[in-house]
Amino acid sequence: MDNEYLFKYAEKKANTFNLYCLLIIAVLGLVAEILNEVGLFTLDKTVMRLTMIQLAIYASIPALIFFIHDKLLKKDESVLVKPFFRWVIVIVSFISVMGLCISFSFHGTLLLAIPPLIAAQYKNNKVLTIFSFIGSLFMVDIAIFGSLLLGQYDANLLKPLTEAEASVLENRVNLLTAKRITEIVFHYVVPNMLALAAIDFIGLSIIKRTTEMIDVQIDLSNKVNAEIVAKTHMQNGVIEHLADIIESRDLETGEHIKRTKMYVSILVNRMKDMDKYKDYLTPKMCEYIINAAPLHDIGKIAVSDLILCKPGKLTDEEFEKMKIHTVKGGEIINNILNELGDKEFLEIAYQVAVSHHEKWNGKGYPYGIKEEEIPLPGRIMAVADVFDALVAKRVYKEPMPIDKAINIIIEDSGTHFDPSIVEVFQEVLEDFKSAATQEL
Ligand SMILES: [Fe+2]
Repeated sequence: MDNEYLFKYAEKKANTFNLYCLLIIAVLGLVAEILNEVGLFTLDKTVMRLTMIQLAIYASIPALIFFIHDKLLKKDESVLVKPFFRWVIVIVSFISVMGLCISFSFHGTLLLAIPPLIAAQYKNNKVLTIFSFIGSLFMVDIAIFGSLLLGQYDANLLKPLTEAEASVLENRVNLLTAKRITEIVFHYVVPNMLALAAIDFIGLSIIKRTTEMIDVQIDLSNKVNAEIVAKTHMQNGVIEHLADIIESRDLETGEHIKRTKMYVSILVNRMKDMDKYKDYLTPKMCEYIINAAPLHDIGKIAVSDLILCKPGKLTDEEFEKMKIHTVKGGEIINNILNELGDKEFLEIAYQVAVSHHEKWNGKGYPYGIKEEEIPLPGRIMAVADVFDALVAKRVYKEPMPIDKAINIIIEDSGTHFDPSIVEVFQEVLEDFKSAATQEL
């Protein structure tokens, strides 16, 4: 979980919340319209319908903005930190709310609390919040005077005013004397501003506290992340040292360790996108398997030098002793890494070490398990391990041509190797060939 994650999450939630609020407003408007149509309300039906159309427009514009923002967030996470979208959302909210206030009379001015509350939900944008807060208080004046001037006539402005309406409107404008303005200011503007400031203040305090809680959570998450990084670093260091130890025992396994890790990585990276494996091979699991690959022969520490460095074919007795490197590897991983690694990685490393010599037909070692009884990391490792053993130069043999090695792997599909993995192997042959010839 990175630093921005929680705020991104909060911002997404804010978008959803705002969308629901607008939906509720729209539904309430629709209910009012239906009640008016069936005669429960006695408002002029034409005016009410036109008002509802306005409500739909005012509610759908910001809803559309939230919707687009949400889609952009899903498409490109970086949009989240672009303040431009926040300004657009808040300003559009202001326009919509002002529209509502003026249409539904100045009693709706408390709706002006919505834009600052939306702005406050956007982290690290204090300028926008302060702008919205102060702006909302100033807009009370516009909303009240606008409402008094246009009021219920707003809806009718969509069509030409009748003479009577025009004269009423004119009278209203004429009535705005200094005395009337003072009356409006003290009876409506000031009380509404105070009420709005109180709502803003309470709302902003709640949002501020939530933001502080998110900060604490981020702080904690950073500490946990730092610990994980340190632990992973230590774990990787131990893996490297263990691999070095194996290398020092058998001079030729150093390169083998590096190449097999490359082969495992090629296979895993192809398999992770396949339907069959994508649920198991999560990014984390892929990383575990690739990092566990260098430990597959860690158990060779427990095998005598005489066997390990013997420049020829092993006798049956020697081979039996060689076989124990699988079980020993598992033990070493459990004992040494137990305190360092996370349990999931440990389990994968254990599976790789113990089962990389098992065969699909059950004729492998140490346990003779078969098919899918063999853990997938072990089956992947088997292909990588054998392929490298074939194409690499060893004290007792010359390197085998790559194409011949490829044929052996394909021929042993279903006997030694998991047929599905051999299919994947055939798809990534070119990558295997370039990894095999790459200078290390
Ligand atoms: Fe091995």
